[in-house]
Order: sequence, then C-alpha cells, then structure tokens
Amino acid sequence: MSNQFTRNIIITGGAGFIGNHVVRLFVNKYPEYKIINLDKLTYAGNLANLKDIEDKPNYKFVKMDICDFDGVLKLMQDEHVDGIIHLAAESHVDRSIKDPFTFAQTNVMGTLSLLQAAKAYWESQPVPYQISIFNSKFSIPCRFYHISTDEVYGALEMTHPDGIEPPFTTKASSGKHHLAYGEKFFTEDLKYQPHSPYSAAKASSDHFVRAFHDTFGLPTIVTNCSNNYGPYQFPEKLIPLFINNIRHRKPLPVYGKGENVRDWLYVEDHARAIDLIFHKGKIAETYNIGGFNEWKNIDIIKVLIQTVDKALGRVKLETTETGETIETYPDMALITYVTDRAGHDLRYAIDSSKLQRELGWEPSLQFEEGIEKTVRWYLDNQAWMDNVTSGDYMKYYEEMYDNR
Ligand code: NAD
Ligand code: DAU
Repeated sequence: MSNQFTRNIIITGGAGFIGNHVVRLFVNKYPEYKIINLDKLTYAGNLANLKDIEDKPNYKFVKMDICDFDGVLKLMQDEHVDGIIHLAAESHVDRSIKDPFTFAQTNVMGTLSLLQAAKAYWESQPVPYQISIFNSKFSIPCRFYHISTDEVYGALEMTHPDGIEPPFTTKASSGKHHLAYGEKFFTEDLKYQPHSPYSAAKASSDHFVRAFHDTFGLPTIVTNCSNNYGPYQFPEKLIPLFINNIRHRKPLPVYGKGENVRDWLYVEDHARAIDLIFHKGKIAETYNIGGFNEWKNIDIIKVLIQTVDKALGRVKLETTETGETIETYPDMALITYVTDRAGHDLRYAIDSSKLQRELGWEPSLQFEEGIEKTVRWYLDNQAWMDNVTSGDYMKYYEEMYDNR
C-alpha cells in the first residue's frame, strides 16, 4: 500500500542519534509521506530512540545493511522510493583510528551501493529521475540527499586563543559566550583535507555522491554539518559520555589540553535544516550547516559539570577570605587530562551563511538553553543510558580509556 502516500522516502541510519530526530520530524510533520527507516542496527542504532513514533501508519522500519545492493534496490522498487536521506555511517573518530576498514566499508562502499541502487531504480522510470504519484498524472522529482560532516575540510588554525567577535550574527549566536577562535571558517568552496580515517571515508563518500551527479545526472545534494548535541546520542561522544561520567563521579578523560575547538549545534536544529534542504535545496549544491557556536572542549566540560552538579544538588557554598559567598562545584576534580587523540583536529568552525542567505535557516536555540535541555534529558532518562552502557560498552570503554 506504499502508493497511498504522496512521497516514499528512505532515511538511512534512522535509529542513530541524528537519524532518529530526522525520522521523528518527518513522520510527525508529513503524515502524507511514507518514511522508511533503513538501519542495520549496529551498536549505535537503537529502536528505543523511536518508541514514540513506531506505531504511526506512515512509518516503517527495515533492518538492512546499506551495503546490500540487491536488498536496497528491491526495497526502492517495492516502495516506489522517490527520496533518500542518507545518514547511516560509522560516525566515531576514535573507533575509526582503531578499525579503519569498517569505516571504509560502511561509509564508502555503503554509500556507493545506495547510489547505484538509486541510479538503477530511478533510471528505469518512464521519465528518469521522476516518480509518478499514485492516481495522479503528476510526477515528482527524486532526491538523493547525503548527510556529511565538517571534518572533511580538515582543521582550522586557532589564531585567537582568547577569542574574537565572530563576523556572524544570528538570533541564537548573540548569547554572551559566543566568540570565534580564528578568522577563518569552513566555507563550501574549501578543498577537502580530511585527517582521520572517519573523515577520509566521509570525504570519499561525498566525492562519490557528487560524481554520480556529474556523471549520471543523479539529483544529489550534500550537506556538511558541525558537531551535534542533544538527546539520544551514544555515550562514546564527548557530551553524553561526560554527563554520564559526572553523574557516576567517574574521571572525565580530556584529550590533550582540552583546547580543541568544536562548533556545536542542537540536533533538532540540524533536523530542521535537513527538512528545509531536502525540500528547497538546489540539486548538485553543497550547504554547510553550523551552530555559529565555537567552544573549547575544556570550557564546555566546565559548563557540563556546573549544569549536572546544579541539577543533582551537589553545588557547595564557600566563603572567601573577603567574606563573599561563592558556589563551588566538587565534580571539577573529576577532570583528568589524558593522552591526546592521534591526529586530533584543532579547530572546526562552520560558515553557514550560504544556507542562511539562500534558504533562510539559522539555529534556533541559544547554546546555554540547549545544553541545559540536554543535561536534563540524560538525567531524566537514566534507563536509556543504563541500557546503552551495558554489555559491550564497558569493553569499549576499557579498551579506549584504561591506561590512557
Ligand atoms: P550514529 O553513529 O549515532 O548513527 C549511525 C546509524 O547508522 C546507526 O543507527 C547505525 O545502526 C546505522 N548504520 C551504521 N552502519 C550501517 C550500515 N552499514 N547499514 C545501515 N545502517 C547502518 O551517527 P550520527 O551521529 O547520528 O550521524 C549520522 C550521520 O551524520 C553520519 O553520516 C555522520 O557522519 C553525520 N554527521 C554527524 C555529526 C555528529 O555530530 N554526530 C555531525 C555532522 C555529520
Ligand atoms: O564535526 C562533526 C563531527 O563531530 C561528526 O562528523 C562526528 O560524527 C562526531 O562524532 C563529531 O566528531 P568529534 O570527534 O568532534 O566528536 P567527539 O564527541 O568524539 O569529540 C569532541 C571533542 O572532544 C574532540 O575534540 C575530542 C574531545 N574528546 C572526546 C571524547 C570522546 C575528549 O577530550 N575526550 C573524550 O573522551
């Protein structure tokens, strides 16, 4: 019955962190679309992330590996798929340093398999790259939308370690903490300079996507986004891992000096950008998506400690020599500097003014508000955290952090 819907869209990696927010947004906002979540359910995929929408009539989950070309092609034919939003990937830089093969397999070969399947199915249509809508003389244009990362651009210099006023203004970036740590930003025309096996594999997949447009006319779009944060992120990444460790009073493993800079975007703002670009973005274009929100790791870690300690009632009041009463945060003592990540990129900072200018998107959330919401979510959803940190996670944690 797939053709009762006006569009049939595959979202790959929908059980992962960003994917579940994109699936939820599309399923709720477009009841007239059928949303097919294609996910292999690796350690990072979790159907519990989608409990609230799993029974919706316009949602379907298919457990499949994107590398399964025959399976993907058949699914596209059976469901009359006219859009692919491709998020499935191996996404963690530290894992890519230990096991690059898996990253090449999923991120490169998996993307290629999806591209080939989309090309084969869409070219077989009476009007190539257009799918006829059931019961209608109209047809709609197909879209292959590839979600990528800012890490493909490499690392930016930190020319202003104390911070300077950034050249961008958005409603969300006008908060008190927003500074830039250099004059240069990632723009869409920068050459690719990936450093990690993860970013090298993502860069390669981006090239394949563009090659399929240039060679075969596949209607592709690529976006490169900065670091996302928010609910349902697997606790191998900085923010959920540190929130969980603070809660359990475990050491906080800060790589190097904690001076590396990332540009943080609330995950629902990324999902909103994906919705907009899927519908309004220009074919063959690249759009950078970022938070206009640079932070040194160590500063973000201190905010996390303050926020968790406040929420858990751990803040202490102390009187200084001058008689002033100040708040202190006992969990600051958990900060532990450890051996740096190999090839650790110093600074990422996105210039997403093209997206702002051409499609009117900008982040909606002040970072202070976003981080507060995020901490609250993880503290309120301890059962989710306990579930994903049981079993293999402990082994991963030991391998990655013991004797580091
Ligand atoms: P994630 O690791 O949380 O989720 C990845 C999902 O892909 C999981 O559900 C997993 O089961 C699935 N998957 C992995 N291999 C698969 C395969 N072979 N076949 C089918 N499914 C498979 O990742 P995320 O953080 O949500 O990132 C999603 C995408 O966004 C990735 O492409 C990533 O490169 C990109 N991205 C992430 C960020 C970020 O900050 N997290 C920023 C920019 C871009
Ligand atoms: O920039 C976009 C990218 O952001 C995405 O493409 C990746 O999928 C995503 O994982 C993220 O990559 P990072 O490597 O920047 O994220 P991560 O959370 O792993 O690390 C953020 C920073 O924190 C980085 O400078 C390394 C540091 N860090 C991380 C961990 C896990 C630590 O100091 N200690 C840690 O234990």
